[in-house]
Amino acid sequence: MSPIRKVIINKNTNIKPIWIMRQAGRYLPEFREIRKENPDFIKLCLNYQLSSEITLQPLKRYDLDAAIIFSDILMVPYGLDQKVEFKKNFGPFLGDLNLDKVSRLDAIDFVKKIYPVYKAIKQVSDNEITKNKSTIGFIGAPWTLLVYMINKQSPKLKLKDDFFKDNFLINKILFILEKFLKIHIKNQIDNGAEIIQIFDSWAGLLEEKDLPNYVYIPTLNLVEYVKSLNTSVICFPRGIKNYKNYCEIIKPDAICIDYEVDPKKILRDIKIPVQGGMNPKILLSDKESLKKETKKYLDIFKDHPYIFNLGHGVLPETDPNMMDYLVKTVKDY
Ligand code: CP3
Repeated sequence: MSPIRKVIINKNTNIKPIWIMRQAGRYLPEFREIRKENPDFIKLCLNYQLSSEITLQPLKRYDLDAAIIFSDILMVPYGLDQKVEFKKNFGPFLGDLNLDKVSRLDAIDFVKKIYPVYKAIKQVSDNEITKNKSTIGFIGAPWTLLVYMINKQSPKLKLKDDFFKDNFLINKILFILEKFLKIHIKNQIDNGAEIIQIFDSWAGLLEEKDLPNYVYIPTLNLVEYVKSLNTSVICFPRGIKNYKNYCEIIKPDAICIDYEVDPKKILRDIKIPVQGGMNPKILLSDKESLKKETKKYLDIFKDHPYIFNLGHGVLPETDPNMMDYLVKTVKDY
């Protein structure tokens, strides 16, 4: 069994495996090299030879315990025929959503549009480099995808005042997403993903009263689906204020925490395996601070099943040597 599964399934506290969100990405010169030649991000995700190569890049440099497939949560709206573009220094930019077209969309057409993602997972999980490591597949949580599909770009700090005005539209999209996210999950697992992480990057935008409708109910449904396929599921409800409630309601196999929460409070409140937490900005400081902060998380979760990760994705301006130092610090602990 891979180290991450030992932590999640056996609740092993003697090992502290590590992987990093956005571990394949712009801080690596070998990624930037490929990216330069491939200005269209979606096309790059659909080039399974390149996307599997990019997925493996960080594993060739560092002793990481997982490969997370190089793709994006927005491949699902793309598969649903909504235009998705990534503009430089701006982020994602989505086209108008044609609800009639989406409602009529066939599962086969959806899979056809994004099948290279599954081929990439297969290549990665079959590769010798991932032996005894976990191949992680992922989805965006329905709420976070809904935000992008309606807002059509990153919401930054708050939602527009009229975000919730069309209740019919919102419910229809959530209904459609449930169906297609299940297909996306199943195909990733069938091609070798042994863990699914659910990214709810915009969970923190909601008020407490809206969590049941938009976060708890739709996510619970998908978590139970992943579990029914005998696969582990990690949830990352970034910015949510009450991780304890979330875990008690959703019951994921592991919870990934952001860098705004107090890890000591998490240790007190939460019984399930924990992942992540450290602020990605620490990697921009010096080795001494990095070591100190890394050890802080490892010490706090010493007797708890814990997977080392950051509290959000690694920043593009990170020095690859600092990443090396981080991985070694965790491995030498
Ligand atoms: O973690 C990994 O290494 C796997 C690959 C991965 C990417 N995106 C690649 C990517 C994963 C798991 C994601 C998830 C994702 N995508 C999330 C959830 C996690 C989070 O960050 O909160 C979200 C919200 C998105 C949507 C998205 N994709 C945004 C907002 C951006 C622009 C960000 C930016 O810094 O420009 C992307 C683009 C993106 N996705 C890049 C990568 C490596 C950068 C692309 C590039 O310009 O090279």
